[in-house]
Amino acid sequence: MKLDDRLLAVASCVPDGAYLADVGTDHAYLPLWLAKKGKLSGAVASDIHKAPLDSADKNIREAGFSALIHTVLTDGLQGLEDYPMTDIAIAGMGGLMIKGILEKAHFVRERHIRLILQPMQHIPDLRRYLYENGFAVTKELQATADGKFYQIICAVYDGISREYTEKDLLLGRYNIEHKTENAENFCRLCERQLDVLREKIKGLEKGSYDTRKEKALYQSIANEMKG
Ligand SMILES: C[S@@+](CC[C@H](N)C(=O)[O-])C[C@H]1O[C@@H](n2cnc3c(N)ncnc32)[C@H](O)[C@@H]1O
Repeated sequence: MKLDDRLLAVASCVPDGAYLADVGTDHAYLPLWLAKKGKLSGAVASDIHKAPLDSADKNIREAGFSALIHTVLTDGLQGLEDYPMTDIAIAGMGGLMIKGILEKAHFVRERHIRLILQPMQHIPDLRRYLYENGFAVTKELQATADGKFYQIICAVYDGISREYTEKDLLLGRYNIEHKTENAENFCRLCERQLDVLREKIKGLEKGSYDTRKEKALYQSIANEMKG
């Protein structure tokens, strides 16, 4: 069984011996791959829809991991609080949906569980939620799969809300502070945000709106990329 580079990057954030909750598991590829590598002490794989959970169940049964990986049909993390999870993966969903799932799960904050999040869209909104609501971003990484660029954010609750700039939301404070460790991915991240801002500025200029804020942000990201 092979994981693509996106799920491999998510898997790389799960420490040995973890008890993983994989929310929105679909085929259960992530917990199955980790279980086969002997990395899990246990897992709960959940999905809101029956069809993907049935497929997860079938794959888990066929791989002989039914005793290690439990499946639950539920919305987000609801009803999962009694599992002894150390890590929660939420991958392949929108950033706002991930934020909604975290907001409803108080035990995540009480038990300082590690979050491994791979949002598909609304990534700045998810970062804003984490910064404002007492989560420390402990790591960010990126992966390319099928020609698409993905971002993964690891965080843990420490109760400290953080100040941030627009640039932090777009690029990730962690990525800025560690940009020399993976310069290629950091440049890609910057280029993508510059493309988005260029389009936004074009649209605003068409409507004769003030673009000073966007232009300053554009310049700041361009400088960050060069520096
Ligand atoms: C695109 S798939 C991602 C599957 C896998 N996590 C991955 O990254 O490859 C999204 C999965 O999340 C499930 N899902 C969507 N909203 C959910 C929610 N609120 N709670 C649990 N699962 C959800 C969908 O049914 C679907 O199986």
